[in-house]
Amino acid sequence: MRTRRSIRRFKPDPIPDPVIQNILTTATFAPSAHNRQPWRFAVLKAADAKSRLAEAMASDFRRDLERDNMPEAEITARLDKSRSRINNSPVVIVLCMDMSDMDNYPDSRRADAERVMAIQSVANAGLQLLLAAHAEGLGGVWTCGPLFAPEVVKSALNLSQSWEPQAMFFVGYPDESPKTKEMKSMESLVKTF
Ligand SMILES: Cc1cc2nc3c(=O)[nH]c(=O)nc-3n(C[C@H](O)[C@H](O)[C@H](O)COP(=O)(O)O)c2cc1C
Repeated sequence: MRTRRSIRRFKPDPIPDPVIQNILTTATFAPSAHNRQPWRFAVLKAADAKSRLAEAMASDFRRDLERDNMPEAEITARLDKSRSRINNSPVVIVLCMDMSDMDNYPDSRRADAERVMAIQSVANAGLQLLLAAHAEGLGGVWTCGPLFAPEVVKSALNLSQSWEPQAMFFVGYPDESPKTKEMKSMESLVKTF
C-alpha cells in the first residue's frame, strides 16, 4: 500500500483481459454503505472508444478554457495533452456511481448524506482498483475530468442514465518511476485523546 504511486506514463503493452477482470473484481470487494455497491465501471480497451471519449471531453474542456480566457496556444496544448493521455493509456476505466439502490429520503439533509455515502463508497472501490493494479505490476492514476463533464462522458460512451461518472483511471504497465512525494507530518494529521 505504501509503494503505490500515481503512474502517468505507460508502456504500450496491452493488459491481458484476466488481469483487467482481476483488478475490477478486487475493486468490488471494497466496503460500501449498506453494502449497496454503487460502483459501476466503463472499461475502454478499443482505440475508437478511447478516441470518442477523448474528443468529446476535449471539446467540453475547450469551452471551459475559453471561458477562462486562456490564450489559444495554451488551450491547444492542454487539449492535446488531455486527448493523448486518454488515447495512449492501454486501458481507461471510467468509474461511475449508481444511486438506484441507495436509500431515498424526502428531505435534502438526509438525501445529501446518502449521496455522500455513495460517493465515499465509490471512492473506496477506486482506491482498491489502484492498489489491485499495483499488486499486478500495473500502474495507474486517478483523474477527475469526468466530474466536470458527466453528461458528455455518458453520451460519448452511451452509458445508462443512472451511471454518474465520478473519475477516470488510466492503467497500464509503468514507464516511469515517480519521484519521492512530500508527506505531511503525522503529528499534523492525528489528534489523539
Ligand atoms: C480525487 C482525486 C483526483 C485526482 N485527479 C487527478 C487528475 O485529474 N490528474 C492527475 O494527473 N492526477 C490526479 N490525481 C492523482 C493525484 O495527483 C495523486 O494521487 C497525488 O499527487 C499523490 O501522488 P501518488 O498517487 O503518487 O501517491 C487525483 C487523485 C485523486 C485521489
